[in-house]
Amino acid sequence: MVKKAEKVFENSKEGYLLNYFLNNKARPIEKWVHYFDVYELYFEKYRNKPVNMLEIGVAGGGSMQMWKSYFGKKAFIFGVDIIQKKKELEEEQIKIFIGDQADRTFLKGLRQQLPKLDIILDDGGHTMEQQINTFEELWPHLKEGGVYICEDVHTSYQKTYNGGYRKASTFMEYSKNLTDNLNAYFSEDKNLKVNDFTNSIYSISFYDSMIAIVKSARRRAAYSLTTGNMAMKDRVLTRIVKTKKKLWDKQLL
Ligand SMILES: C[S@@+](CC[C@H](N)C(=O)[O-])C[C@H]1O[C@@H](n2cnc3c(N)ncnc32)[C@H](O)[C@@H]1O
Repeated sequence: MVKKAEKVFENSKEGYLLNYFLNNKARPIEKWVHYFDVYELYFEKYRNKPVNMLEIGVAGGGSMQMWKSYFGKKAFIFGVDIIQKKKELEEEQIKIFIGDQADRTFLKGLRQQLPKLDIILDDGGHTMEQQINTFEELWPHLKEGGVYICEDVHTSYQKTYNGGYRKASTFMEYSKNLTDNLNAYFSEDKNLKVNDFTNSIYSISFYDSMIAIVKSARRRAAYSLTTGNMAMKDRVLTRIVKTKKKLWDKQLL
């Protein structure tokens, strides 16, 4: 019998990955059910393409098998885990590295052994230090157009993981600061300057327990243009200004 999940969101899809997960008879997979919508949103474009994916946190190894099945024969799935025994879960198209994701030296060495990545998924130990160090060390290794997803960011609100609501050292607060970096070209404050993140982050999306960051090299500050017939624009603008003034006078604005 094909299993179905109770929908978490009204518009949840029943895509390939959710069906695979719910009907999985291979190695164990541990995922929150609502993550599957987000996976499909970012990963679909890579199906049947030569995608390189890295997942931090191997556990039973089932998620790596799921990615392999979803992306197809041209995909390569890399895993990282702190437990040596996880190395035994390697198979065709799946390679596992052993190390601590909080250890920047390990992560730097890992970069040397990996091709540039299309997808990085952090589903490891979920502490603040692990999430931040992993992001900072591996973000430069993500390809343009690639996506970095950090899972279980709800640990930012949990003391066991060194989290705490609005605590400055959490991955949530760190990621909120990245949204400032995204807009740094417009900053009038010396404390907010253009940096590598300004020039490489295309978008940051916050979901329940997940953050997805898409990469794109920025070649210049954003700019706006006005196009079309300028005489027409003036007429339209005058009309808009007049309408706004009327609304303002009536205290409706
Ligand atoms: C939540 S499980 C991963 C679940 C798996 N991705 C899945 O979807 O089935 C977390 C894994 O992260 C590993 N882990 C914990 N701390 C780690 C660390 N500091 N560095 C690397 N891996 C770690 C654990 O050994 C465990 O296998």
